Order: sequence, then structure tokens, then C-alpha cells
Amino acid sequence: MERRDFIRVCAATAIALQGGKAAADARPRSYARSLLADEGGRALRASQLAVGENYVFHYPFEGTPCFLLNLGKPTGRNVPLKTETGETYEWPGGVGPRAAIVAYSAICSHQLTYPTRQISFISYRDRSTASRISKPNMIHCCSEHSEYDPAAGARVLGGPAPQPLCAILLEYDAAGDTLTATGTLGGEMFNTFFSKYEMRLALEHGSTARAQQRVAAKTVVTPLRQFCKQQVRC
Ligand code: FES
Repeated sequence: MERRDFIRVCAATAIALQGGKAAADARPRSYARSLLADEGGRALRASQLAVGENYVFHYPFEGTPCFLLNLGKPTGRNVPLKTETGETYEWPGGVGPRAAIVAYSAICSHQLTYPTRQISFISYRDRSTASRISKPNMIHCCSEHSEYDPAAGARVLGGPAPQPLCAILLEYDAAGDTLTATGTLGGEMFNTFFSKYEMRLALEHGSTARAQQRVAAKTVVTPLRQFCKQQVRC
């Protein structure tokens, strides 16, 4: 998210608070400012992100995976959305040179399926990878076929998911062509995720504490096809 967009979201939230609607608004949550980096630790160039490719990074915790996507064309802007508990929020839209880059928590809001190093049941499908079940240009979870529109704040378009994927707020620096994660917007499910997968996350990350450690100044972005041995298609 560009700084002015972030300020707009904060301003909208403040206005709603003044109007006595605090309970109905999901506020952006700030975490560490984390530069998106390549596997060599260098700043990732936004313009080098391939259109339609699934990229994975971890944010805001070491154990919570997110998708980074270049959708290839400008997304919707200021999309009104709602969490499972009825909190409203406005997803500001994509960032980057074409306002086409988006990031979401990769934890399905239905039963918390997520991409591991071994296997992924959830991913973005463009026209070349969609099937008769999964529509093109959507994030699809093969567990029970929830479908999310990444160009509209990961709004739920099908399946049992009760709310959009939690959005990761990004800032784009045009001078350096870099991306920085700054926080989340929408329905977080991190506590439930840590409880449900405590054992598995401890094995994957060395310990529970490590999985729940906050990501610091940098987070590494990896193509999903390298991150994960097997991508389930449905
Ligand atoms: S866990 Fe994704 S649809 Fe059920």
C-alpha cells in the first residue's frame, strides 16, 4: 500500500470511530516494517514479479505464510468487505507500477489450510492453471473449494469460507521499486492457526516460539513452486 493510501485507510477508520461505529470497523493492524527480499537477501524488485506466479513470504510471524501476486492489471480500489464477525473494512487496492501487486495471508479462512514445504492445497490460478472447478484468476483452496478474488481484497466468491483472506498491507517505493509489508487488514486468524497447528509448526520452524516470532526488518519471498514440493490442483 502506498503511504497516501495507508493514510486514507487510517483517516476513514478515525472518522468511523468519531461516528461511534468503532465496533463495526476492522482497523488496520501495524506490525514490523518488513522489506520484501529475494533469496539472496537483496531487496525484491516489484517490476520483476512474474504475472500469475504464486510467491510466498512469511508475515507478520515467522510461521504465517502469505501470498504475493502480480495480477498483471490494476485491481479494484477501496473494496468494501466484512469479516466473519461483521466488522467492516475497505481494502485499498493493489500497489506497484500498475497497481497490480497484492498480498494476503495464505491461511484459508475456512479450516486454515495453508501451504507447507511438503504440499499446498491453496494457490492462485491464472488462465493457464485454472480447471473446471477453480475459476481463472482466483485463489482456490482445494480442501473444500473456497474461492477468493485477489483483485477485490480476497472477497469470497465460493465455498464455505466465512470471510476474505486477511490482507497484508504493502507499501511501494517507486524510486527503489521495492515493497515493504507494514501490517494487516481484515480478519486475522493467527491465534487459531497457532493453536491448531502447534505441533506441526514446531517441527517446521524448530520450535513453537520460533513460529510465533514476529518477522523483523526483512522477509524472504520465494516462488511457491520452489517453496513447496507438491501443489495440489483441483
Ligand atoms: S480449508 Fe479451505 S475450503 Fe476448507
